[in-house]
Amino acid sequence: MIRICIICICSTYQRQASNHFQVTLYQSNITAIVGAQWGDEGKGKITDFFAGNSDYVVRFHGGNNAGHTVIVDGETYKLHLIPSGIVYGSPVSVIANGVVVDPKALIDEIAYVINKGINPKLMVSDRAHVIMPYHIALDSVLSGHQANLAAGSTGRGIAPVYADKMFRNGIRVVDLLEPNIFKEKLIKGYSFSKNLIEKALGGTFDISMDSIYDDYIEYGNKLSSYICDTAVELFNAHKSGKSILFEGAQGISLDVDHGIYPYTTSSNTAAGHISTGAGVSFRDIGKIIGVAKAYLSRVGESPLPTEIHGDEANELREKGAEYGTTTGRPRRVGWLDLVQVRQAVRVNGLTEIALTKLDILNGFKTLPICIAYEVEGKQVKEMPASLHDYRCAKPIYTSLPGWEDLPNNIWDMGFDALPKTMKDYISYIETEVECPVKIVSVGPQRHETILR
Ligand code: IMP
Repeated sequence: MIRICIICICSTYQRQASNHFQVTLYQSNITAIVGAQWGDEGKGKITDFFAGNSDYVVRFHGGNNAGHTVIVDGETYKLHLIPSGIVYGSPVSVIANGVVVDPKALIDEIAYVINKGINPKLMVSDRAHVIMPYHIALDSVLSGHQANLAAGSTGRGIAPVYADKMFRNGIRVVDLLEPNIFKEKLIKGYSFSKNLIEKALGGTFDISMDSIYDDYIEYGNKLSSYICDTAVELFNAHKSGKSILFEGAQGISLDVDHGIYPYTTSSNTAAGHISTGAGVSFRDIGKIIGVAKAYLSRVGESPLPTEIHGDEANELREKGAEYGTTTGRPRRVGWLDLVQVRQAVRVNGLTEIALTKLDILNGFKTLPICIAYEVEGKQVKEMPASLHDYRCAKPIYTSLPGWEDLPNNIWDMGFDALPKTMKDYISYIETEVECPVKIVSVGPQRHETILR
């Protein structure tokens, strides 16, 4: 290790107890994996791929609106709340404070992984906010109220629970362990949401406060052994040189600040949120991998300039099994949109891209890639903030030649063995978004992955 003065900028540091401030340089052991599109890019597979080398795998935002699929040795695991690293068995899975936890869904998911023969090494932040039944009810009446401005929520109560957090009206995981505090907060939270649902939005909410109280105290008891201060745990783990993998949920266009608002989710999906969503400083993150699918899919509502319809869309949807993991909804599909990926590179500070599902494009004669939008006669290369602009955006495409079927066991043959047109497709993306593609995924299974 090299010791130097603070002037030096490094990704990982330690404070030394001495009369001046010093830093110790060592390789950062923290990697982040985030979505570079609309979610469902294959983050679960990429997380699982790296999980074997990680001591901790951490979710830092979102809730059970996410759906992460991991396939190992032909066995499929569908996860919503527990990090995908759980499938590996060895790393500790952490649900950090920025996540919103539906305790019933978590208890069911713990049972699901145990059923699959996994012993869950799990930690849940005491500061994570809790999704209550009235959040789920409010989610649905709110979507009705928003009508064509509704994002097509997964109905898991995500927007209302994050709103309650910001109202400072929320219930945190730690509260489930303290019955008196829980009761005090529940009285306020319950009446607030019930009034919103019934008086402001004309819905109904019939679950009694007493039954919610009983259920949630029981959930707290069941989860108590997992609950701790995960920020302190991660700080100490990092200090002692352990490796940490952050698993993002959703994708950049669903980020509540940088996405296509209001057609977003209600958390920050960008890597920057790791700092507040897990209590780990962004200065410590060494590698930030953006996962992008080789084409585009979107579940939910919003303008979508590169969306395609008809036979070609059906072919892509069926070949890619593009149906929501959480809701089963058919996903809208389209061509790769580099305006979106360019933003993902910039906002997340991506150090590399993992490009997934390239095999799904096998057999397409030409592959259009969107490099900019035309908005009222002007060429736009960055994501517009204006909903009006986004609604009128027309994709400007470059078309590249496609490739036929890939040889069997291509993943054993390495990057150079890929068809030339596929390598050209990849290199075109790298040049346009100014970020290297270092991981290429050509199948759903862990081993169907090529590193460069
Ligand atoms: P919410 O997060 O359930 O409120 O949904 C808001 C928007 O985000 C909707 O358009 C959802 O379809 C979308 N969304 C939320 N989670 C995911 C995900 O994991 N993958 C893809 N889309 C998602």
